[in-house]
Formats: sequence, C-alpha cells, structure tokens
Amino acid sequence: MNNPQLNQDGQLKHLLSIEGLPKAILKQILDTAESFVGVAEREVKKVPLLRGKTVCNIFFENSTRTRTTFEIAAKRLSADVLNLNVGTSSQAKGESILDTVNNLIAMHADMFVVRHSQSGAAHFIAQHVAPHIHVINAGDGRHSHPTQGLLDVFTIRRYKPDMHNLRVALVGDVLHSRVARSEIHALTTLGVPEIRVIAPKTLLPVQVEKLGVQVYHDMHEGLKGVDVVMMLRLQNERMNGALLPSAQEYFKTYGLTQEKLALAHPDAIVMHPGPMNRGVEIDSAVADGSQSVILPQVTYGIAVRMAVMAILAGSTI
Ligand code: CP
Repeated sequence: MNNPQLNQDGQLKHLLSIEGLPKAILKQILDTAESFVGVAEREVKKVPLLRGKTVCNIFFENSTRTRTTFEIAAKRLSADVLNLNVGTSSQAKGESILDTVNNLIAMHADMFVVRHSQSGAAHFIAQHVAPHIHVINAGDGRHSHPTQGLLDVFTIRRYKPDMHNLRVALVGDVLHSRVARSEIHALTTLGVPEIRVIAPKTLLPVQVEKLGVQVYHDMHEGLKGVDVVMMLRLQNERMNGALLPSAQEYFKTYGLTQEKLALAHPDAIVMHPGPMNRGVEIDSAVADGSQSVILPQVTYGIAVRMAVMAILAGSTI
C-alpha cells in the first residue's frame, strides 16, 4: 500500500505517524539521534546539515516541550527557524491552513512542524505541498505524536538497551492520548514483547487489545515486575463529559506513588511525556525521584528531532 510518509525509494519524506513506518526507518532515526546526543556536549552546539534551509513551526495548540525542542534542534542543525504565532497570524481573519502554508512556502520555507487539535491536520498539509517540502506531525488531536513516541523509545533504549526483554506499562488516559498510540506502535515495531496498559475502562479505546497490548484495570496487578512505567496525563481538554469521579479519586486508584512503584522491577524507570499533573496522575516524590527519567526524555527529544529533520532533509524527491 502507498505510504504517504515515504518516497518511491522507501526513504522518509514526511513524518506523520509511527503506524506503518518500517522498523528499519525507526532504527535509522534512533541510531541517527544517538550520533546527535554528543552535539549538545560540544562548546559549539551546531552541525551544518540544514544550513540554508528554513524550518517553520506552526502550532495551533499549546506546547512547551515540543515547540521549543524542535526550535533548538533546527538551530543546532544550522537551519533558519520561523515560529508562526498562530494567535496573532491571519488565521484569526479566516485564512485557511493551506493558504497560510502556501504563503510560507512562497517565503521559501522547506520544512513544516505542525501541531493541531484536529487529527489528520499534518497529513492534510503533506498531501497538498510540493514534493520538496517536508512535513512533521508535532501532535494531531488524539491521533499521533510521532516524535514523542520516538523520543520515548529512544529514552527507553538508552536506559534499557535490551528491547527484546522488556515489560512496559502505560498508565492512565490512553483513550485521549496520541502519545500512547505512537508509543505502542513504536514499541511493537521494535519488538518489545510485553506492553501493558493500565486504566479504568472509561479511559481505554474500544478493542485496545488489537494494538497488541495487555489490559489491566488494577495498578497493583499491572505494575508487577515492569521495567518501564510511562504515566499519561489526564487530558481533560479532550474529554466530553465526566469519565471519572474526581481527580482525588483518580489519584488514589491510578496515581503513581512510591508505594505503587515498589511493585515494579527495582530498576524500573518512570517516564511522563509532560505536561504533568502532579497529585493527579503522579506524586511529586516519584516525578522528582531517583527512578524518574522525565527530564532526560526532554533532553533526548532534541537529538531525536534533529535526527528526524536531518533524515528528511537528506531524502530525495
Ligand atoms: N509532550 C508534549 O507534547 O509536550 P508539549 O505539549 O509541551 O509540547
């Protein structure tokens, strides 16, 4: 089947979703990211791979980590970076998303990093741009957040190199989480044998088992012996109606505390894509504790996003 993310030689031309990406491309991104980790340790934190290129960040939805790390990553690759402030742009006057993009292409933008609350927004743009333009999905609705999924598996691989011998638990609001979907696809593609989701029924997609995960509703059962605990934010902004009794009740049952974490493998790492709701899905003692790799996730996000942009820029039409 035609994959809109790949060119006819099977090279990555857009990054829209992890679903459907071949294992070889995931590995190419992770291995390339590995080579970029050291750039941050240099006195001059720059490589010339995107010199002369313009990367345009268009975020229709709020972001702290993704937007800034894409900007840092593009600058470390020596690109020119343009951050469109959507709130003060002509979008407010009714300009369509494609007209906005085409105007930026007229200014010689080469690559777009797009976040949107509507699933499929980045895919839609990718379908309508010229072949030399690259589009990266920086999160679309509940659908996909491929660079987050990639930086999560990159972080896991750094701390737990034997991916074929891992138990990973994703805990919380899987239903509304584009991160969970991307991560499950990345983990299964990379051959992680046991992926668990732990959540109340109201926060799980119908037939979630079809994604290749084991379902748990009880934290005490689901956390037993896992090597990685990935906490997910309660996405109140995407919920229609009350899916939970209260934040306090949720924390009691599904919040990660030191006591619950003790059920996991003693060397288990704790992850969270951010932003965190402390005291709702995770206790501060765990978020800031010795097993937390939440801030290293952010740091590795720069190398992973550098890798994605460098690979896209190197792909041929
Ligand atoms: N993880 C993540 O997407 O964070 P931001 O919303 O801050 O970009």
